[in-house]
Amino acid sequence: MELRRFGPTEHMVPVIGQGTWHMEDDDPDRAIAALRLGLDLGMTHIDTAELYGSGSVEELVGEAIAERRDEVFLVSKVLPENASRAGTLAACEKSLARLGTDRLDSYLLHWSGEHPLEDTIAAFEQLEREGKILSWGLSNFDVPDLEIARRIAGPGRIACNQVLYHLQERAIEHAVIPWCEKHGVAVTAYSPFGFGRFPGPRSKGGRILATIAAAHGATLRQVALRFLLRRPSVFAIPKASQPEHAAENAGAGDLRLTREELARIDDAFPRGPRPRELPVM
Ligand SMILES: NC(=O)c1ccc[n+]([C@@H]2O[C@H](COP(=O)([O-])OP(=O)(O)OC[C@H]3O[C@@H](n4cnc5c(N)ncnc54)[C@H](OP(=O)(O)O)[C@@H]3O)[C@@H](O)[C@H]2O)c1
Repeated sequence: MELRRFGPTEHMVPVIGQGTWHMEDDDPDRAIAALRLGLDLGMTHIDTAELYGSGSVEELVGEAIAERRDEVFLVSKVLPENASRAGTLAACEKSLARLGTDRLDSYLLHWSGEHPLEDTIAAFEQLEREGKILSWGLSNFDVPDLEIARRIAGPGRIACNQVLYHLQERAIEHAVIPWCEKHGVAVTAYSPFGFGRFPGPRSKGGRILATIAAAHGATLRQVALRFLLRRPSVFAIPKASQPEHAAENAGAGDLRLTREELARIDDAFPRGPRPRELPVM
């Protein structure tokens, strides 16, 4: 499994991790087995959130990683409505208790909300000083909000921006990825399979993925993940509650595509126009 430095942190993190959204709806034994198999196969970045199953997914993750905490790069997220200074501190304590751990490797603001970002960041910095989190980051932030966060926190403080990124949704390539690379912020791609909208093998794009996959003895999903990882700042966190899915996803960790193959995928799934952005204030 290929490892990359996670933004400005000292952590080397696998390029493929494991998401957990909606795992409360899955068979818990299968989901725990999938997460543990994922760890065995090197997908040690586990992403969760207080939102998921109203905390029950953090409990499930806690069960999956019990006895193995030190192997895991554990990430959770605070909901915007809880992200006041005191609310963030309290939410973190609850996440730690549900996860059965004394620290998070990274703690993210799930999306920006009504609480001043200064207060959320002050809480993140306090949690980091106290050793309850080892780094902090953001999620669903566009460039204007990233600029504001960087102005508040100073350089080298934002570990990552976790954002939507899959073959059919490449908007972050226009400005978010370049901004994150300029400022040394990791980009974590969520919903890398489009959450159920993965291209069918007989669609035009699916046929191109299939041809490339066949050349590598790989699968369409492995090729898709590898395309997303072609920039050095990017990590992906597919969610799998089936162990065989976890095994397939881990197989993308060492796949390498040629420039020509990347260009064919780029052509088959065009990134589309630049989204309209508000000016930076
Ligand atoms: N920050 C945010 O706002 C945000 C938003 C959305 C997601 N996320 C994070 O990103 C993670 C991933 O995104 P996601 O859950 O939305 O979608 P996703 O990873 O794109 O897709 C998950 C779906 O793909 C299936 N799947 C996984 N591997 C497969 C394989 N090898 N073959 C066939 N099907 C496969 C899963 O099935 P099974 O589960 O049945 O295996 C599940 O139904 C989330 O779980 C969450 O941790 C963050």
